[in-house]
Amino acid sequence: MFDVNKIRKDFPILSRQVNGKPLVYFDNAATSQTPQQVIDVIVDYYSNYNANIHRGVHTLSQEATDKYEAARHTIQQHFNAKHAYEIILTSGTTHSVNLVANGFVSLLNKGDELIVSALEHHSNIVPWQMLCEKTGAILKVIPMTLEGELDMDTYSKLLSDKTKLVFVNHISNALGTINPIERIINQAHQVGAAVLIDGAQACPHIKPDVQALDVDFYVTSAHKICGPTGVGMLYGKEVWLNKMQPYQGGGEMIDQVSFEKTTYAGLPHKFEAGTPNICGGIAFGAAIDYMNAIGFDQIAAYEHELLEYGTKKLLDIEGLKLYGTSKNKTSVISFNLEGIHPYDVGTLLDKMGIAVRTGHHCAQPIMDFYNIPGTIRASFAFYNTKEEIDALVEGVKKAKLMLS
Ligand code: ALA
Repeated sequence: MFDVNKIRKDFPILSRQVNGKPLVYFDNAATSQTPQQVIDVIVDYYSNYNANIHRGVHTLSQEATDKYEAARHTIQQHFNAKHAYEIILTSGTTHSVNLVANGFVSLLNKGDELIVSALEHHSNIVPWQMLCEKTGAILKVIPMTLEGELDMDTYSKLLSDKTKLVFVNHISNALGTINPIERIINQAHQVGAAVLIDGAQACPHIKPDVQALDVDFYVTSAHKICGPTGVGMLYGKEVWLNKMQPYQGGGEMIDQVSFEKTTYAGLPHKFEAGTPNICGGIAFGAAIDYMNAIGFDQIAAYEHELLEYGTKKLLDIEGLKLYGTSKNKTSVISFNLEGIHPYDVGTLLDKMGIAVRTGHHCAQPIMDFYNIPGTIRASFAFYNTKEEIDALVEGVKKAKLMLS
């Protein structure tokens, strides 16, 4: 049984006050909150077995290494990767995308084509533009529709035997649209292109199966799914990871080093230079365990209820316009009030204890498409409630009165 009041007790931060009001946290798409179960794992690491991994024969190092590698296995199982060594632990989604983009420098030729979508976060645009500058490859864009969906007919036309890579998010961070990634992957494979899916916004809501998707790369961050910041993962098919050059050089990623020649370690270490975020990796595994104990089917069903409730209530406010109206979307509501800057609404909501994100959400091309400076974005998690949505709706009404 899904019991939101019981779940809320796991999150100490949810009982704090902000500006004298109970916190209403609706900025979950930016970062999720952390349950006590994950906080305990972090405290345990620093209290009991803080040590560097893969390096020492001593007990603490062994314990840290075992827990870090156990977390890699948890992540592997969660995403259903074939091998644990196909999971590269990174500092987050941005790092993962940059790692692949740099790995492709030696695999592309001038005139090769890459396809991105109009719905991307800057972290899934800029690294590829940098790759194009280095290689002479050409970036093509799948356009979006007014509803905030991808124009799949144009996608089909963009694909050709020149296409080498396609990169699209699973779910748009700014609008919440769930993209048809199965179709995107399938069509890309028909022309021999590889596909990277940015799953940063999907993983809090969906349990992706990378083998069923047959995706080449899937990337995400732990802090979107109740884990800490500064850690994330790159899933890559073994065949691609073996073809790619390492992104960073340093300790841990080598086999043999001499001044004449250095050889690289096998997977996953080839891509994991330097001391990683050890505690973060272990806590990433704990966060996945926490989410799975609640269950992704339950989470998705409850969040859908919140989305429907919030959308209906907000649309009752005159002059409120929604952005992102796909039928296939997750619990993100992006909106504006006619004639009012989103930043002003966000500032007033904060005075009422309500946390939302305002601005372009690191997705400026989407804002340009709608010809707006930004939106107010309320993003719901499984620990939010309808009462909190009522508080948001009242807050938006008050802000509108004050700013009109
Ligand atoms: N990418 C995060 C967001 O959408 C930070 O808010």
